[in-house]
Amino acid sequence: MFRDDALQAERMRDCSVSKRFYKRARRVFPDGTTRVTVEARPQPTYVARGDGAYLIDVDGRRFLDLNNNFTTLIHGHGFVPVVKAVTAALAGGTCFANPTDSEIALAELLTGRIPAAERIRFVNSGTEAVMFAIKAARAFTGRPGVARIEGAYHGAYDWAEAGQGNAPATWGPAHRPSARPAYRGTPKSVGDDVVICRFNDVAGAESAISAAADRLGCILIDPMPSRAGLLHPDPGFLEMLMRVARKFDILIVADEVLNLRQGFEGACARHGLAPDLIALGKIIGGGFPIGAIAGRKEIMTVFSSLHGRPALPQGGTFSANPISMIAGRVAMEAMTRAKFEELDGFGEQLRQGMRAAITRRNAAFCISGEASLFRIHPRPTIPVDFRQAYLSAEGAATMQRLTAFFHERAILLPNAAAACLSTAMTQGDIEKIVDTFDEFLDVL
Ligand SMILES: Cc1ncc(COP(=O)(O)O)c(C=O)c1O
Repeated sequence: MFRDDALQAERMRDCSVSKRFYKRARRVFPDGTTRVTVEARPQPTYVARGDGAYLIDVDGRRFLDLNNNFTTLIHGHGFVPVVKAVTAALAGGTCFANPTDSEIALAELLTGRIPAAERIRFVNSGTEAVMFAIKAARAFTGRPGVARIEGAYHGAYDWAEAGQGNAPATWGPAHRPSARPAYRGTPKSVGDDVVICRFNDVAGAESAISAAADRLGCILIDPMPSRAGLLHPDPGFLEMLMRVARKFDILIVADEVLNLRQGFEGACARHGLAPDLIALGKIIGGGFPIGAIAGRKEIMTVFSSLHGRPALPQGGTFSANPISMIAGRVAMEAMTRAKFEELDGFGEQLRQGMRAAITRRNAAFCISGEASLFRIHPRPTIPVDFRQAYLSAEGAATMQRLTAFFHERAILLPNAAAACLSTAMTQGDIEKIVDTFDEFLDVL
């Protein structure tokens, strides 16, 4: 290590201001943070500000950000067109009990791009979008049940999260994964209306869904579930889901809250899935809170009051607030087909670079992901389902070492989760990520 490198490593370890903030935060939050996803030991890295592909923490350290607020910021931090548009709008008011032109403009953009989105409604988060998509499927079919993928994350609605926290001690046999509610005290009946399938298990999922078909309103599916492992869908699996759904009149609800960033038309279009409803969020808000439920016109009539009280009334004090609408439109307008392709190119280069490093060093790692997303696994082959992606204690320790290694080299890599690129990143940034991974494999 050169002297400058040693100084840099020493500097990256200095987090005295974050430590002070955390001490204060522990007096007001139950565990010092106000969302579980930012917890970190011995303390989180508190942010002072963002700057394109980088964020600067309260100790003055500058990090390349591969998290981008859990894949939300497709343009990185402080994207100038969004900053300008939002700044201009703020003085005119931030929320009204009336509709605005800005919501129509974002709706036109999204329905113009996403094949399955004939009609749309806005909410405030991905959790809400998934919840209302499930409720819409229930209102349309008259059936309460949800079939979903083991280990996949869909936010915090009870029926969307059962089976999400499965672990080896409780997940049950491979042919019948446990549908137990995710958290203590949740009504046991939630599990009665949830069927858990393993991703890519064509025969098992077909049999489980068919057996419960008369009480299933929807199959909830993220075409590339990130928390479950950023798993690659086997085309046969998605085809089977569509066939079974058609056979039993069950709706397919695609969760594209995270994976819409896979392309101009979204992840379903990319992977050949034709959903009835889609839950959206993250990138469509341009960095502001948002969610949306979109889908076939006929199904979306459950939200309509044109012929009396809607089958599913949906409101929300901040739903379709003009700031999220304006920021979302501006951010999405900048994501042209060409921009998506450019970002895909960086993603491909990054994954290939990392895979080449793995091969060169004969390391027991693999990289999953598509478009601007990637996930590193401490195993030699890409997992096909949550059980394969599940980290042993040793695997979890390796991933923690990897995250810490990147952190010391000024790169924020999400720990054992999907990482992502932004349009603010450069060729140099991609090379730095690959080189850092290569260096890690070298010292391992
Ligand atoms: C696939 C997926 N669905 C739903 C959600 C929930 O979205 P939100 O955090 O906006 O409530 C997330 C959040 O990470 C997600 O990744």
